Amino acid sequence: MARPCVLGASALPEFLQSPLEKDFEFHDRLHKKDPAAFAEIAPRIRGLIVGGGSPVTKELLDQLPALEVISVFAVGYDKVDVAAAKARGIPVSHTPDVLTDDVADLSMALMFNIARQLPAADRFVRDGNWAQGAFPLQRKVSGARLGIMGLGRIGRAIAKRGEALGMHVGYHSRTRKFDVDYTFHDSLNELATASDFLVIAAYGGPSTEGLVDESVLEALGKKGYLINIARGSIIDEPALLDALEQGRIAGAGLDVFATEPGINERFLSLPNVVLAPHVGSATWQTRQAMAQLAHANLEAHFAGGKLLTPVPES
Ligand code: 8YV
Repeated sequence: MARPCVLGASALPEFLQSPLEKDFEFHDRLHKKDPAAFAEIAPRIRGLIVGGGSPVTKELLDQLPALEVISVFAVGYDKVDVAAAKARGIPVSHTPDVLTDDVADLSMALMFNIARQLPAADRFVRDGNWAQGAFPLQRKVSGARLGIMGLGRIGRAIAKRGEALGMHVGYHSRTRKFDVDYTFHDSLNELATASDFLVIAAYGGPSTEGLVDESVLEALGKKGYLINIARGSIIDEPALLDALEQGRIAGAGLDVFATEPGINERFLSLPNVVLAPHVGSATWQTRQAMAQLAHANLEAHFAGGKLLTPVPES
């Protein structure tokens, strides 16, 4: 029986692409590399796999009349036109759970790095400045007030890490969670007012775009820190840059940005920001687990079964 024809819609790591090439008639970004060849193959493409940072638009879906399934190699699927896929009955899967710990770990790493100014401390030693005196005092993390926007899998893992540090945990989400003891704030502004560290762990997409705006940053205040390991789209980035430049918040730890990889150059000269290149899930162990899950979702579909990890019904 012919192997199902699958389009890789973005660059994929070798440990994901090689097994795909073995199990499917796999075409790596053919729509970008060779439009003429893609036009030939497109009517036969039954599956599509894509990384979290690459778009899957209705226009692309319209070129794939035989498409049956989309597998996203990420937990965030905000770049996929899920509504257009749903309208055609095309199920979409993502890779939750296997990356939760890594992303939660990175949020704590960003918190410690910006609060204790560790990148600056490293440069301080390397530049030989220690001989001239002690590194300036910084901000304690343990026991501080931790505010989490979005108490999903990753938000909950961050909360557990905060509890282990004796932090007082509060959260804001669309709905109150009755299985946790954390303080629920029914507005983001109220959460920001009650936080020393505000961590953004919400889903990206139209419903959260720009929610962290100037008023939220004002509520976080001059002693508050913002951590973002979710999506850059959730933050009003010009407002964040103004607040950082004017000292209206203490600092930020950012793994995601409005534009990636080319971020706003205003970030580059700021001493009160720690910058990371969207590495939340970027460990060998986690990316290999994500790859296996993304592949397994395709296999489950073509074996006639249900997706292992379908995206949640919106
Ligand atoms: C992706 C991410 O895993 O999982 C997500 O939603 O943001 C990233 O960590 C990465 O871009 C691989 O697709």
